[in-house]
Amino acid sequence: MKKIVIFGSNGLLGQSLVNRFNTDYQVVAASLGGTSLNSVEGVPYHQIDMVNRVQINEFLIAESPDIIINAAAYTNVDGSEKDKELCWNTNVRAVENIIDIATTFNPILVHISSDYVFDGQQGSYTEQDPVNPLGNYARSKMAAENIIAASNLEYIIARTQVLYGFGNKVKLNFATWVISRLSKKQNIKVVTDQIGNPTYIDDLSESIFRLLEREEFGLFHIAGSQIINRYNFAKKIAGRFDLDESLIEKIVTADLKQLAPRPMDSSFNIDKLTNRIDWQPSDVETGLKKLKSKLSKNNG
Ligand SMILES: NC(=O)c1ccc[n+]([C@@H]2O[C@H](COP(=O)([O-])OP(=O)(O)OC[C@H]3O[C@@H](n4cnc5c(N)ncnc54)[C@H](OP(=O)(O)O)[C@@H]3O)[C@@H](O)[C@H]2O)c1
Repeated sequence: MKKIVIFGSNGLLGQSLVNRFNTDYQVVAASLGGTSLNSVEGVPYHQIDMVNRVQINEFLIAESPDIIINAAAYTNVDGSEKDKELCWNTNVRAVENIIDIATTFNPILVHISSDYVFDGQQGSYTEQDPVNPLGNYARSKMAAENIIAASNLEYIIARTQVLYGFGNKVKLNFATWVISRLSKKQNIKVVTDQIGNPTYIDDLSESIFRLLEREEFGLFHIAGSQIINRYNFAKKIAGRFDLDESLIEKIVTADLKQLAPRPMDSSFNIDKLTNRIDWQPSDVETGLKKLKSKLSKNNG
């Protein structure tokens, strides 16, 4: 059985990956919080700080995995405009360190990147389209991609976007935020001018699993199969969860006065992915059905 190290195992994606890979691979989980937050039976959890080079080196040498999935990241887009160094150390330096040490055991590296590498002027982006990141977080994601592409490792760079799903003790994602607010009859303001492909988290894990099984390497856009603006996505969430959509107010991105600029239409063309794996990530309705079923299982 192949050994796979999953960095960021306590995050929304990390948890989903641990569950997806656990049956077919020997999974070793690594996260900042260690075992304290999550545990899947039979999976060893290690407390590893991505910005600690010595810790990463010792851990990876000891494990010498066949595959590394890096789902750990500094993900606070606005925070990265202030915490520039922490963002860079987590999202870029850590990747450099992994690659440096990995040359001794030559694993496949799977790294998660973002639609934010694009400026959002075009939409329906393919893997061939030129990038133009707008803020520090976005630049850090682009820099890591470039370092991986220039390395000698076999790799998958999985660009994804608007992740939603259930995670144990994770921060709210867009869908769980909408559900949480509307369930309490609280108003929400949602932008109409940000367009993308909402991605159900377990579909991202499934896509990565299938790419690895088929030894399909390189750069992939992995996202839900439907392009929709954020306001309409919120309305679909309200509909699926029988919540009051009149609580959703339309705004535009400029109203939010966020520190980091956002790409407006960073939607993906996912044809390369679907052709290679013979499978399609869910559209919004199907993804929300899966989320509803998962939430009802986990809430009792
Ligand atoms: N969420 C989205 O909509 C979205 C969109 C595009 C791309 N992405 C990318 O997808 C990936 C996964 O995102 P996500 O939503 O699952 O993020 P998340 O829930 O915020 O999880 C990120 C994980 O990174 C870990 N981490 C952060 N700093 C660390 C450090 N110094 N050392 C060790 N671990 C550290 C955290 O560990 P602890 O929990 O242990 O603190 C956390 O579990 C990231 O690369 C992100 O950039 C996400």
